[in-house]
Amino acid sequence: MPLVTTKEMFAGAYGGGYAIGAFNVNNMEIIQGIVQAGQKLNAPLILQVSKGARAYANHTYLVKLVEAAVLETGLPIALHLDHGPDFATCKSCIDGGFTSVMIDGSHLPYEENVAETKRVVEYAHAHGVTVEGELGQLAGVEDDVQVSAEDASYTKPEQVEDFVGRTGVDSLAIAIGTSHGAFKFKPGQKPRLRFDILEEVARRLPGFPIVLHGASSVVPEFVAIINQYGGAMDDAVGIPEDMLRDAARRAVCKINIDSDLRLAMTAAIRKYLAENPGHFDPRQYLAPARAAIQGMVEHKIEAVLGCGGKA
Ligand code: G3H
Ligand code: 13P
Ligand code: ZN
Repeated sequence: MPLVTTKEMFAGAYGGGYAIGAFNVNNMEIIQGIVQAGQKLNAPLILQVSKGARAYANHTYLVKLVEAAVLETGLPIALHLDHGPDFATCKSCIDGGFTSVMIDGSHLPYEENVAETKRVVEYAHAHGVTVEGELGQLAGVEDDVQVSAEDASYTKPEQVEDFVGRTGVDSLAIAIGTSHGAFKFKPGQKPRLRFDILEEVARRLPGFPIVLHGASSVVPEFVAIINQYGGAMDDAVGIPEDMLRDAARRAVCKINIDSDLRLAMTAAIRKYLAENPGHFDPRQYLAPARAAIQGMVEHKIEAVLGCGGKA
């Protein structure tokens, strides 16, 4: 099976009350850990690449690694551009083998977001590629852009029909209180998502796939290991898993996870090197890192996404 778009995945997810995990990939071990979990649990997967990942690992290397994952596993896998900053980046990914792109115009004035998104949709659809747009702004860090909690803004449900109708996007990322990174709520603050906004968006867009960014749960077990071996992440906190599972049962069809991958990998490497100070073969510490990613993704598929057995 070649790489697939997100179209059929989202149709299954919407109807089935589950979500597809969209995992950020930057190198071979991360890709292998994720797809080994997908293979074990027979889950469809979205592997997503940010502008920063393309700059770090090179477009062609990442495409070929993901194609290798498809060949090895036979799973339905979509290769998606995460937070595409402009038309040129989206076009480069569409021309270069991606099956899905996000155009992130969420920081633009509304009409400019509509125009830029529509331009990407026209090009993408002419090439058989699906498109994710975004309305509303999440707090946190993505690439070099930092959005403070004060500047973050919830999605306005009254804009979504106009935006989807005029742009033709295939899915829509919304802001309901999630945020990027490992520090999603202030110390002592109770985690809260605006399910009322999600419900109103879903009512206005029946059957339409919604995307949640910033949806790592910041697995406490990995934070504890990082802290045990010299890290300083005491205030790290993510989205409670039961809230994410609830979102996946509703209109949310794609749940983005990057920080949990970073934490799993870093925890395993810190632990290995602390326990084996004389070792210097990268395979010795990257193998447990890859295994930690696999275990974490298996847990997400079962406890959060509900997409096991849906490949
Ligand atoms: O939303 C951002 C993702 O976590 C990707 O992060 O831009 O540092 O690769 P990155
Ligand atoms: P996290 O930082 O919560 O993993 O979010 C990742 C994300 O939204 C990638 O686009
Ligand atoms: Zn994101």
